[in-house]
Amino acid sequence: MSAEDTLSDSAGAMAADRFVEINYDDVIPNNVALSSDKQLQRALEGWRPNYLGWWNNMGPVGYQASQVYLRTAVGVDPAGWAKFGYVKMPAYRWGILLAPKIEARTIPFGRHKGEPAWQDVPGEHRALLRRLIVVQGDTEPASVEQQRFLGATAPSLYDMRNLFQVNVEEGRHLWAMVYLLVKYFGKDGREEAQALLERQSGQMDNPRILGAFNERTPDWLSFFMFTFFTDRDGKMQLAALAESGFDPLSRTCRFMLTEEAHHMFVGETGVQRTIDATCAAMVKAGIKDPHDVEAVRKLDVVDLPLLQRKLNFHASVTRDLFGADISSNAADAFSSGIKGRFNEANLKGDDHQLQDATYPVTRVVDGKIAVEQEPALRALNARLLDDFIADCQGGIDRWNKAVEKAGVAFRFVQPHKGFNRRIGEFAGKRISPAGEVLTEDEWKAKSGDWLPNDDDMQFISSLMKPCHEPGKYASWIAPPRVGVNNQPGDFEYVKIA
Ligand SMILES: [Fe+2]
Ligand SMILES: [Fe+2]
Repeated sequence: MSAEDTLSDSAGAMAADRFVEINYDDVIPNNVALSSDKQLQRALEGWRPNYLGWWNNMGPVGYQASQVYLRTAVGVDPAGWAKFGYVKMPAYRWGILLAPKIEARTIPFGRHKGEPAWQDVPGEHRALLRRLIVVQGDTEPASVEQQRFLGATAPSLYDMRNLFQVNVEEGRHLWAMVYLLVKYFGKDGREEAQALLERQSGQMDNPRILGAFNERTPDWLSFFMFTFFTDRDGKMQLAALAESGFDPLSRTCRFMLTEEAHHMFVGETGVQRTIDATCAAMVKAGIKDPHDVEAVRKLDVVDLPLLQRKLNFHASVTRDLFGADISSNAADAFSSGIKGRFNEANLKGDDHQLQDATYPVTRVVDGKIAVEQEPALRALNARLLDDFIADCQGGIDRWNKAVEKAGVAFRFVQPHKGFNRRIGEFAGKRISPAGEVLTEDEWKAKSGDWLPNDDDMQFISSLMKPCHEPGKYASWIAPPRVGVNNQPGDFEYVKIA
């Protein structure tokens, strides 16, 4: 075989680290030269029927025989990595895709800083790495399970397609983590891969690992808020793991981040379009006061105060995913070179080892909110959470611009970091969205104004009527500004079978 033949050939002939195109001839599409590692290939091909079984049992309810206009990754080049076309979801090509290897990459932080990145699992950090990969992996199928009933109430075919796109990509993220477990963790890894298909979101006996992934996603507003907030937690975690000294994890997470961006887009624009529909209806009906809830709800749109309560709920539940603000596990993961900070390699002006650095941590001291300096190494979760809160603000500012443009007097705000928390410094404390420390009685009297109440949920559920005609949208949501892949407004994103 000539050198040229090798270049145009598919995965097997090429060394994994040079290979960036994806081989779609294999049962499992991949750019990791899977066919050159027969044992790994067999193990993953053995897991595949179990995955498909999980998808069929726990994935989207209905629509599995419908043709959905989905994007599939065809390369890992950021400039053009996906192609669009109709596919039935169970036939989606879930693949194993790593971002290109960076030559001579070094570990960017921790006590191994400056050493060559590991291509294999360092024995001393094996247990910690495995745990982090399992926890990340567990969130991927969990969100598919949480969203499985939403197809039936989709407010348009466009939205239904976006839901299914997110779902198949979360499925692919599971593949990404399972690849690492099976390739690098032997028998333990294979057992973990199986357990990832057995835990179930919201199940009493064998729930998903993290709390927010056991909450229900009962309606489309919840879905949009979830993809805005909770997928953004995914982004932050993946970004921190993309800094990892364990290079295969870093490359896996870097590619996942390209997909994650779309999930947050779905969330941000979904809420945005909900706001657009509300404001347009209010203006048309001449309703000036956004708090005139009764009048607004009569228009079959979502009142803005209710959206704020949904925001409060999803923001606070998602913040709990960052774990204890002060954490020796997070310190270990950092010192070991396993999990960095957000944007670690580009952070200027510090030693990336955090020996003497401090970080301001917010907590309740003597009944008042106070900021105290803590060793930065132990406050890494607090820092990642702060980075997350800052990252959320961009989208919220854009929502507020839309409200302002419509001439409606209302502003969305993020609740205080301590509001409605169960994990971290504020667990067990009662903090108002504005950041006042409350007594239990004060909290009880007010929390119905701050979190979605039964009335809200009933109203939302009354709006969740399917709208499955091409180009049509439910009353409560505006059409998107542009179609997927620039398709026209009446494009049939799902051919319902
Ligand atoms: Fe994901
Ligand atoms: Fe996601």
